[in-house]
Amino acid sequence: VRGFSTKKVVEKKAPSFAFAFDIDGVLLHVAKPIPGASDALRYLHHHNIPFILLTNGGGKLETERVKDLSEKLGVPLTTDNFVQSHTPFRQLVDDGPESLRDKTVLVTGADAEKCRAIAQAYGFRNVVTPADILHAHPKVFPFDPLLDSVHASSRAGYPSNSNPASGMLKIDAMFVFNDPRDWALDIQIITDLLLSQGGHLGTYSPRNNDASLPNCGWQQDNQPALYFSNADLLWSTGYALPRLGQGAFQAAVAGVWRRITDGHELRRRVIGKPYGETYRFAERVLAAHRHELLRAISHHEPDVLRSVYMVGDNPESDIAGANDFVSEAGTEWCSVLVGTGVWNPAARGGEGVLKGRFKPRAVVRDVREAVAWALEREG
Ligand code: G3P
Ligand code: MG
Repeated sequence: VRGFSTKKVVEKKAPSFAFAFDIDGVLLHVAKPIPGASDALRYLHHHNIPFILLTNGGGKLETERVKDLSEKLGVPLTTDNFVQSHTPFRQLVDDGPESLRDKTVLVTGADAEKCRAIAQAYGFRNVVTPADILHAHPKVFPFDPLLDSVHASSRAGYPSNSNPASGMLKIDAMFVFNDPRDWALDIQIITDLLLSQGGHLGTYSPRNNDASLPNCGWQQDNQPALYFSNADLLWSTGYALPRLGQGAFQAAVAGVWRRITDGHELRRRVIGKPYGETYRFAERVLAAHRHELLRAISHHEPDVLRSVYMVGDNPESDIAGANDFVSEAGTEWCSVLVGTGVWNPAARGGEGVLKGRFKPRAVVRDVREAVAWALEREG
């Protein structure tokens, strides 16, 4: 495979290492493969070295995204070695007292119908989008010119268990699956529900923004919980400068909430890199994938996974997340930073920002060099 040492990876013994690759800024700039990305993945695939893709991106069904990525990167990928920002939310519909399976959830993100389909594929049975609410109650947002464009495709309407005429649609939890396109409508609906009585849209509970009460937020008057899937303030698209990500939307919601409640912090749950919950989920996915891959080539009991090379472009998510993560399997997560994405040696703080938890084990030009460095380290 072009660009790699001819030294053949010894395949007699199953490799005790694997890779986790970030996507945006490492493998792709939006839809365009970054030079070396296909070579790197094809080399690992050819030598049966396990890897997963671990992205804070989202907004498509995992099956749809891996099909698209396989075509773009020229390497077979499946949902067995793919984790995107909202994939761990699937766990919230597992059976048990806290299950949200039969609750009514609000889901927002780029394409409302795609986000609804993803939530339903995870097992959520009653899914509402901000566009549903806008169609049912156009007055909920006085001047939304997007009703016949961005929101035109939304057609499913309210789930059967809530009668829009009563104006008492009850939302039990809210999810941001990926970067919303209509921040104004989404912030309006989210804050309406945080101020509501128990998640009933159109109601108002003065307790929720009474600054004299302890920190506002849900459970004050059992408001719906608010989940974000990705904290990235910035991400790399190939434009000359990084672009605002879902973390910027989260900051906007938190800023409006702080104003409305006279200074309270927005209470929310955030997953995605750099959070340990996502790295724990990803490690389990990687371990299961590696086990199947190596068994298929007759390594029946592959040795323990000793190291995972986390190759990323964003010190705040990929590098800090790998550095902070304490593996439940005792696996070393080794962070490798590339210069093809958010972090740029020649700009935005350059080497200066790579301190403490943002300090990678290695800094390389691109993903091809990252793989070569790791293989060298593995000897
Ligand atoms: O929305 C995607 C962006 O936040 C970054 O994604 O692949 O670099 O984790 P990724
Ligand atoms: Mg990235």
